[in-house]
Amino acid sequence: MDLFTAIDTRASALKLCDPAPSHEHLQRILQAGGRAPDHGKLAPWRFTILRGEARLVLGELMAQSLKDRNPAADADELRRERNKAMRAPCIIAVAAHITRPHKVPEIEQVLAAGAAAQNMLLAAHALGYGAMWKTGPAAYNPAIKTAFGFAEEDHLVALIYLGSIEIAGEPRASAIEERLKWME
Ligand SMILES: Cc1cc2nc3c(=O)[nH]c(=O)nc-3n(C[C@H](O)[C@H](O)[C@H](O)COP(=O)(O)O)c2cc1C
Repeated sequence: MDLFTAIDTRASALKLCDPAPSHEHLQRILQAGGRAPDHGKLAPWRFTILRGEARLVLGELMAQSLKDRNPAADADELRRERNKAMRAPCIIAVAAHITRPHKVPEIEQVLAAGAAAQNMLLAAHALGYGAMWKTGPAAYNPAIKTAFGFAEEDHLVALIYLGSIEIAGEPRASAIEERLKWME
């Protein structure tokens, strides 16, 4: 798939299923992440891959995080939150590990990790897989960051849910109207 076809046809999948990307494809996707632009060559991105039973731990933590935010959450809401971790056979958690102090500002290090996430979304799409980039309040929960092996001060910028496509999403039109200025 050429680059512009990949960019123009990528959309968040609405529903994912097995099989997860093969080991070889996952390596290709992760390598695409590590090719992101990177001011200062800090490689600030950190990737943790969850598959199989490891997803249950994330589900438990997401339910606990919901309970902490909303002690009135009922069993059904907690079950739904827990099941979110099972919506794909593979999850890549992407964090930005910030080098401090450093002449490269923190925001630029975060952006590099975001660019890594986008590279992985496009690579997954080009290989025929579906993906969803989610964060949600759980991504800001220190217990969840440390469960992935990230530091509390790291920014968890993406949970990339990855798998085969059960229900595809519709690509959106490029949203540049009225957000564009030409200065000549
Ligand atoms: C940093 C970041 C966090 C996001 N978190 C969520 C999220 O928690 N839940 C969600 O539904 N969409 C989230 N999105 C948006 C979706 O990933 C998706 O891009 C958006 O719904 C547009 O759909 P598309 O990917 O099909 O163009 C997030 C996007 C970014 C860049």
